[in-house]
Amino acid sequence: METVYLNGDYLPKSSAKISIFDRGLLFADAVYEVVSVINGRLIDMVRHIARLERSLGELSINAFADWSSISENLVAENDLREGLVYLQVSRGVMDEREYRWPAPDTAPTIFAFAQSRVLIENPMVDRGMRIITRPDLRWQRCDIKTTQLLYASLMKMEAMAAGVDDVWMRQGDMISEGTSQNAHIISEDGVLISHQLDRSILPGVTRIEMLAQALSMELTVEERAFSIDEAKNAAEAFVTSSTLLIMPVVEIDGHQIGDGQPGERTGKIRQNYLAAVQRVPSRTN
Ligand code: PDD
Repeated sequence: METVYLNGDYLPKSSAKISIFDRGLLFADAVYEVVSVINGRLIDMVRHIARLERSLGELSINAFADWSSISENLVAENDLREGLVYLQVSRGVMDEREYRWPAPDTAPTIFAFAQSRVLIENPMVDRGMRIITRPDLRWQRCDIKTTQLLYASLMKMEAMAAGVDDVWMRQGDMISEGTSQNAHIISEDGVLISHQLDRSILPGVTRIEMLAQALSMELTVEERAFSIDEAKNAAEAFVTSSTLLIMPVVEIDGHQIGDGQPGERTGKIRQNYLAAVQRVPSRTN
């Protein structure tokens, strides 16, 4: 994955340089998207662009680019079959460090790169994820996909130290989401429960298609927060994200979920999700 994109140019990654006065570096004044690539095709690009434009709008960052073409060019240039494209937009470069930003005509810094990763044959699909819960200490605009990811990184390190796969964050007794995934459960009576869209979670692109598949399987869907106890007593649990797609969870805080094996309905949702996203041409899905 040698070729990257920076402000209009495609460059070898060692030649892509940005200023130390970029607000993305100094203030995490930047937003991003991670788009999965399967069989050389971008998955759900239109929804990713819509979310990117919303994030930019919420922070009044003026940036326009042909996000689809940049991403497609990176896939082609790097001959990427499976993995992801990362797109980042910062408010741009200042003359000196200053909290307030200058007039809105600052040129944004736009960069993107491709990364190879196994998505479909991920061995975690068969064994399921083990999760611990920790307090959600992030800022209160988690609906904006900013690059302020230090807390998520700290939590991933904590999960690794505890010998598990990841962390679900809790606000009081309620689960908000995973460090870099949305969290969902299927209750004993067959109801799929997924946190409602509000400022405490990222509106996941994968979550939208997952819910569509769940509804077509005639599962009842409730969009609301669920408690740690509800999660522990659920029949199935899983996460959604562009890199894990639909991934089963088999343990929460040392408590086995269902029979401790990846859930059957979760597996079916994953299968149907993969079929659906690959059927739609990337420019229109
Ligand atoms: N993370 N919640 C958070 C906090 C996330 O960072 C992500 C994505 C999601 C899932 O969103 P989507 O289905 O649109 O990928 C939910 C990406 C993959 C990342 O930061 O690497």
